[in-house]
Amino acid sequence: MSMIVEKIPEKIRQYCKSIKKKDKSIGFVPTMGALHEGHLSLVKMSLAKCDETVVSIYVNPSQFGHGEDLNAYPRTLDNDLMLLEKMGISAVFVPGNEQMYKEDHMTSVEVSEITSVLCGKSRPVHFKGVTTVVMKLFNIINPDYAFFGEKDYQQAAVIKKMVQDLNIDVKIITGPIVRESDGLAMSSRNVKLNKKQRGQAPVLYKSLIEAEEMLMLGVSAVEVKQRIADKIKMQSEVLIDYLEIVDPVSLENKIDSKNGILVALAVFFGNTRLIDNILVNKIDNDRNQNEKAG
Ligand code: PAJ
Repeated sequence: MSMIVEKIPEKIRQYCKSIKKKDKSIGFVPTMGALHEGHLSLVKMSLAKCDETVVSIYVNPSQFGHGEDLNAYPRTLDNDLMLLEKMGISAVFVPGNEQMYKEDHMTSVEVSEITSVLCGKSRPVHFKGVTTVVMKLFNIINPDYAFFGEKDYQQAAVIKKMVQDLNIDVKIITGPIVRESDGLAMSSRNVKLNKKQRGQAPVLYKSLIEAEEMLMLGVSAVEVKQRIADKIKMQSEVLIDYLEIVDPVSLENKIDSKNGILVALAVFFGNTRLIDNILVNKIDNDRNQNEKAG
């Protein structure tokens, strides 16, 4: 069966309802398009787990702050649709702003606390925009499973919290970070890097690996942060937005090492802001117990 491409919320809702009526499960992968292997890995997970897979492509304006790259965000719809069709998914939802935010739109969904740290600190309206649009998408598609990438670790944590707090009937599944061969996490924004910046950007993953090694050896979080910040700053044209070592559940500096440790960063290369993270699972050393990351 050929892939359905639908712009109108009510029509895709009816389509999804017809799938449910046949007692089939729906997997949903929300995206902003400019698809790459990172997105496609989530599509593959959904195809493997669910009877039918629905992808959305929508560059959601409400999650971009003033002066951020909404207008410059890459848009490659024809290529995206071609990639998805090849993978054999059921339907793509491609609404426009006129469908998603009517002029009289007044409602939003906001998760507190875990949205005020990491990316939320430097992008204060971002997660409110994400949770609002994802809630709308969940209500339109009504999926059994929804897939999110660990590249946006905090986003997945925020969505899980929203689902838990608001009793939403969907299971959230996360997929591992897909990287280029030199370690750079795949991102729609990577195409914005010039040659020099692209050459420098793998320092992020290298630093995260080093951080992991140091944490495993029992080096303190404060010291690890200092050392990897120094390493990143050796590149020209970079500006560290944040570099944090936090508890992967609370996203706070107070680390309970039984949860593991999350090292997360956001770094500007020129105007392009890249994020990456690593989850350090096994911390054997007592020195990391109750570590305060300062
Ligand atoms: P977007 O940045 O297009 O990402 C869509 C999904 O792909 C997210 O769950 C993201 O974590 C995942 N993803 C991106 N790069 C990845 C990589 N290298 N490896 C694994 N997964 C990766 O995230 C959004 O869109 C939006 O905020 C959205 C949830 C669609 C709401 O507008």
